[in-house]
Amino acid sequence: MEALRGAKSIAALTGAGISAESGLPTFRDPQTGLWEKFRPEDLATPEAFQRNPKLVWEWYAHRRELMGQAQPNPGHAALAAIERHAATFTLVTQNIDGLHQRADSRNVLELHGNITRTRCFEEDTLVESWSANGEVPPHCPRCGGLLRPDVVWFGESLPEETFEQALEAAIFCDLFFSIGTSGLVEPAASLTEVARRAGATIVVINLEVEPLASPDLYQLNGPAGQILPELVRQAWREEG
Ligand code: APR
Repeated sequence: MEALRGAKSIAALTGAGISAESGLPTFRDPQTGLWEKFRPEDLATPEAFQRNPKLVWEWYAHRRELMGQAQPNPGHAALAAIERHAATFTLVTQNIDGLHQRADSRNVLELHGNITRTRCFEEDTLVESWSANGEVPPHCPRCGGLLRPDVVWFGESLPEETFEQALEAAIFCDLFFSIGTSGLVEPAASLTEVARRAGATIVVINLEVEPLASPDLYQLNGPAGQILPELVRQAWREEG
């Protein structure tokens, strides 16, 4: 994999598929148990929270628990290994599970927030602690407004500075990975096209992609947790 070994600047965009092998369902998988009858698109919106804040808070509490119990998989570890080898590396993730950081990735841009953080729905400020008096959702200790997870919901804009940095990484990289993302949700999805137009070699890793190899586009069909460690082994002859 000369393209990987020779690249000076690498960027990667990850989606729910990179965490699938850690046991976390993607957005296109049906939900299980109590949450079977809900679609994520109907829970992850400001309107859903206004309509039924308890339901939305509890869905995130359930997911926070799943994500807290999940462990990084070999795909996350391989991306951390690539970062150690590359001169410049930026990891842009749509995931809110924090697994990249737990696998020791350093330069991580979280486009959709992080489920472990909480903010006030009214004031839009981060809130570290609140009184645990059993209220669901809890209230902001400053203004009394409802607390919500610090994640980006459908219809909300991305953190501006973080997206700017992601765009910059896509424009200036010479190798761009798109890993485990359906590419359906904008503006994250457009980063791959931005990188392609700026002249980067694109490597797509997904369970649902046509295998393809050309000088500036590689589509690798299969699980990220197997393909990425194999790429690291081939490029640097070491374990991912
Ligand atoms: N390895 C590689 N790819 C995989 C794997 C795997 N083990 N398992 C699943 N995939 C692929 C699927 O084929 C699919 O294309 O991962 C992709 C997951 O797609 P989505 O569930 O749509 O996840 P994502 O692209 O991250 O969604 C984007 O949408 O719901 C919102 O805000 C939410 O951040 C999320 C955004």
